[in-house]
Amino acid sequence: MKFNYPEGATPLTNDELADLIPIHITTQDQLNEWEQKNILVAEKWARKKTDLISTKFFQELHEHMFNETWKWAGKFRRSEKNIGIDWHQIPVELKKLCDDVNYQLDHASYSIDEIAVRLHHRLVYIHAFANGNGRHARLLADLLIMLLGGTRFSWGMHQDLYKPTPVRKQYIAALRRADGGDYKDLIAFARS
Ligand SMILES: Nc1ncnc2c1ncn2[C@@H]1O[C@H](COP(=O)(O)OP(=O)(O)O)[C@@H](O)[C@H]1O
Ligand SMILES: [Mg+2]
Repeated sequence: MKFNYPEGATPLTNDELADLIPIHITTQDQLNEWEQKNILVAEKWARKKTDLISTKFFQELHEHMFNETWKWAGKFRRSEKNIGIDWHQIPVELKKLCDDVNYQLDHASYSIDEIAVRLHHRLVYIHAFANGNGRHARLLADLLIMLLGGTRFSWGMHQDLYKPTPVRKQYIAALRRADGGDYKDLIAFARS
């Protein structure tokens, strides 16, 4: 099998690839389609959940999104990637992230959209899993907004952001600006 990766994605190691569950999959399109089905089932499950901001839930959500696809679904990555922090630091950084988000929610530090976007950005920045971090962190942001009574983000009209499209370029550019502490474009993009 040979998978192609869009810009701003994290190629899998051979070990990670060997943990692909469906044995019939050999192309990127087949993988995308399979993952999408898996994720739709996970979304249904996740919409009933109310305790969203914990490391445990982050892992459970990833597990449900990819449990029919990757044996490492829900498990933290154990390899270095071109994006993301040193993998040894993942548990402690996720704990800090949850503490910060809970503080922001308790004190209404920002608008709900901004809290969700900041959560999204920091989660993909940490890059806790070998793959699926973008989709996982977008769904998590949407779940938080819906739990708080808002309308879920559109993220560029729900185009396939994990594919190499012009809209993805815009999204990655907005994430890079958020890396520098400027969230404006990412907030606007999430509602575009
Ligand atoms: N410069 C960046 N800063 C923060 N996050 C980034 C950056 N570049 C890419 N990303 C995030 O990483 C994701 C790609 O990681 P990956 O694990 O392959 O997720 P997925 O498989 O869901 O696309 C992108 O969708 C984006 O959310
Ligand atoms: Mg990917």
